[in-house]
Amino acid sequence: ALWRHLAPSAQRVNLNVRKNLQPQASYKVAVLGAAGGIGQPLALLIKMSPLVATLNLYDIANVKGVAADISHCNTPSKVQDFTGPSELANALKGVDVVVIPAGVPRKPGMTRDDLFNINAGIVKSLVEAVADNCPDAFIHIISNPVNSTVPIAAEVLKQKGVYDPNKLFGVTTLDVVRANTFVAEKKNLKLIDVDVPVVGGHAGITILPLLSKTRPSVSFTDEQIQELTVRIQNAGTEVVEAKAGAGSATLSMAYAAARFVESSLRALDGDSDVYECTFVQSDLTELPFFASRVKLGRKGIEAFVTSELQGLSEYEQKALEALKPELKASIEKGIAFTQKQA
Ligand code: NAI
Repeated sequence: ALWRHLAPSAQRVNLNVRKNLQPQASYKVAVLGAAGGIGQPLALLIKMSPLVATLNLYDIANVKGVAADISHCNTPSKVQDFTGPSELANALKGVDVVVIPAGVPRKPGMTRDDLFNINAGIVKSLVEAVADNCPDAFIHIISNPVNSTVPIAAEVLKQKGVYDPNKLFGVTTLDVVRANTFVAEKKNLKLIDVDVPVVGGHAGITILPLLSKTRPSVSFTDEQIQELTVRIQNAGTEVVEAKAGAGSATLSMAYAAARFVESSLRALDGDSDVYECTFVQSDLTELPFFASRVKLGRKGIEAFVTSELQGLSEYEQKALEALKPELKASIEKGIAFTQKQA
C-alpha cells in the first residue's frame, strides 16, 4: 500500500482511471549483488512486498548471512541464498524480475563513467546468465554507469537472441525520488504529493528533471529552476562526498529500486495503472536509449508517455539538446564494449 501511494499512477498523471486489485504473493524476484550496500536494504524492502513469493539473493560473497537474517521476517516470501557463479543459474530459474546492483560504487572525485571498466564486465556476465536462465524476466539495471550498462545488457541479450526491449530497464527512479523530495522541500509541499518526471539518462547533465511538468502544478523562478536542476543532477555526488569514501547512495537507492520492483510486480499482476520513468530503448529522440515515463504492463513497456516531452520550457529544451552528445557517447561506449568482447 505504501508503494502504491508513492508511485505515480495514471490517476495522478491524469491519464486513466485506477482499478483496485487484490495483490497475490506469486512472483519470484532475484537480486544480483544482494550482499552490497544497495543489495542488503533492497532485499529487506522486497521481503516486505505482498506480491513476492520467492526472493533469491545472489552475490559472489557474504550473501548467506544476509539471506539468513532477512528470512526471519514473517512476510509471505521465501528467501534463498546463492553464492558464486556455480549457483547463479539456479538463482535465476523461473524468475519474473531480476534486479542488478552488482558492481563497484563511486568514491569522492569519481564520475559514474570511471566505474565502466569494472562494472561493464560484471553486467555483461550477469546478463548472459539471465539470458540463459530467465529470458522472459523484467531486467532492472542499477549498476553504473547506467547510460552504458543498459546498452551493454541490450547487446548481450541480442547476441543471445532473447532481447525484448520492453523488458530491459535502467533504474532511474532515484532521480525521480530526489526531484520529488527537493521540489517538495523548496515549495513547502507535502512530500508524497509531488511528482516530477525526470528524463534523459542517469549521470550529470544527462539527468533532466522536467520541472515545468511537476504535479501538482507549481511555478518556479529562473533561479529556482537552475538551483533545483543542478541539485538533482548532483545529488548522487552530494551523498558520495558526505560518505567520504564509504560509497555512494545505498539506502535511498534501495528505496527507489524497491519502488520500481513493486511497480513491475503490480504491472505483471494486471494493474493497468502503473507508470514509471526509466532508461530504456526509445524512439522519443534520435538517441537509441532515453529515460522517460512509460506505462508498464504484463509484457513490460506498454506505452511511452510522449506528452511529457512536448511543450518543454526553453530551459528544458536547451538542456535536452545539451545532454544528447554525452548520452550518445555513453551509449556508444557500451555498445562498442560488447562488440570488442564478441
Ligand atoms: P557495493 O560495493 O556496496 O555492493 C556491490 C555488491 O556487488 C557487492 O556485494 C559485491 O560482492 C557484488 N558483486 C561484485 N561483483 C559481482 C558479480 N560478478 N556478481 C554478483 N555480485 C557481484 O556497491 P553499492 O553501493 O551497492 O552499489 C552498487 C552499484 O549501484 C554501483 O555500480 C553503483 O554505482 C550503482 N548505483 C546506482 C544508482 C542508480 O541510481 N542507478 C544509485 C547508486 C548506486
